[in-house]
Amino acid sequence: MENEVGLVWEPSAVGEALSPEAVSALLCWYASNARDLPWRHTRDPYRVWVSEIMLQQTRVEAVKPYYARFLEAFPTVFDLAAAPEDQLLKLWEGLGYYSRARNLQKAAQVIVRDYGGEMPADETLLRSLSGIGDYTAGAIASIAFGLPVPAVDGNVLRVLSRVTGSRDDIADPAVKSRFREALRPVIPADAGSFAQALIEIGACVCVPNGDPKCALCPLAPRCVANRENLTGILPVKSAKKPRRIDNLTVLILRDGPRTAVRKRPPSGLLAGLYEYPNVSGHLTPDEVPAAVRSMGFEPLCSTRIEDAGHVFTHIEWRMIAYLVQIAPTPCGYHPRSGCWLASGDDLRAGYALPSAFSAYFKYQ
Ligand code: ADE
Ligand code: SF4
Repeated sequence: MENEVGLVWEPSAVGEALSPEAVSALLCWYASNARDLPWRHTRDPYRVWVSEIMLQQTRVEAVKPYYARFLEAFPTVFDLAAAPEDQLLKLWEGLGYYSRARNLQKAAQVIVRDYGGEMPADETLLRSLSGIGDYTAGAIASIAFGLPVPAVDGNVLRVLSRVTGSRDDIADPAVKSRFREALRPVIPADAGSFAQALIEIGACVCVPNGDPKCALCPLAPRCVANRENLTGILPVKSAKKPRRIDNLTVLILRDGPRTAVRKRPPSGLLAGLYEYPNVSGHLTPDEVPAAVRSMGFEPLCSTRIEDAGHVFTHIEWRMIAYLVQIAPTPCGYHPRSGCWLASGDDLRAGYALPSAFSAYFKYQ
């Protein structure tokens, strides 16, 4: 196969770099160097699944406390399937990529309804569940069920690109699926340890930023990037398209001890989470009272507070904010604005507020 730079990529490159000897060396290395992580003490498919979903786009250290709390709240797939949405999102609060939590619950409901609460031990059936893509299906199939299915995420792709010396763009889904298929014949009997060993090499040895630690790497003897000094240029990864920038004005509306929050729409960015009321664009101080009145509140005084930014996958928020005292409102719920007025303690206990707003938590 020919790629953009005219170099030939052979599927056999994976088999050559990951020879039976190299795979043995990898498994041996993993047996004595694997980090002791909570999800490595179980092969329960539900627990493996929850860990793999949390670990997508999130650092291991950040995942640990969430993983423990989540499984304490929802020890089985039945508990997750039946959970109230607000509780689910509250448990995910701060972890980001909230559609992961909603997809997890959607899939849990299907597992309960169609599979009697047992995760299917089958790559294709796993792949059909919400939020489970090729990587996650491979991780669950191999780690929980020991099936010979490849689990290729961005970290594993980097390792494969380097060991084979491939110049193909790892941002290209076709390249990813080629590596995945090339890996299949190489998977040893202990598929789960093999999957985790490649993940571990990607996380701890063949690192993304800075020089890979080739001197410590069990794959070094057959690694093309190591042999030909290509670790500085591999993997080749094309740039993503730039994020859209959204300017927002956040209004921290305070009625004595209470702060207004509202629930975001059921789909789209931060779906179903709570937010401080906000409007698009950056309002000047004299535009603030009208914006507050249009929500049905009576502004008494307002002050500009700090700016904040938040970067999502495809969007970047640039926020300015005002702290606004409003005239007392009688009830906890304010139908005209769709806002709830709640104390700081109540907000912390029962409302999932995404960390995009964390600069403003101190005002509630
Ligand atoms: N990242 C994705 N899956 C992982 C796992 N099982 N262990 C550590 N990091 C991971
Ligand atoms: Fe990565 Fe170096 Fe190991 Fe090759 S030898 S896989 S470049 S750490």
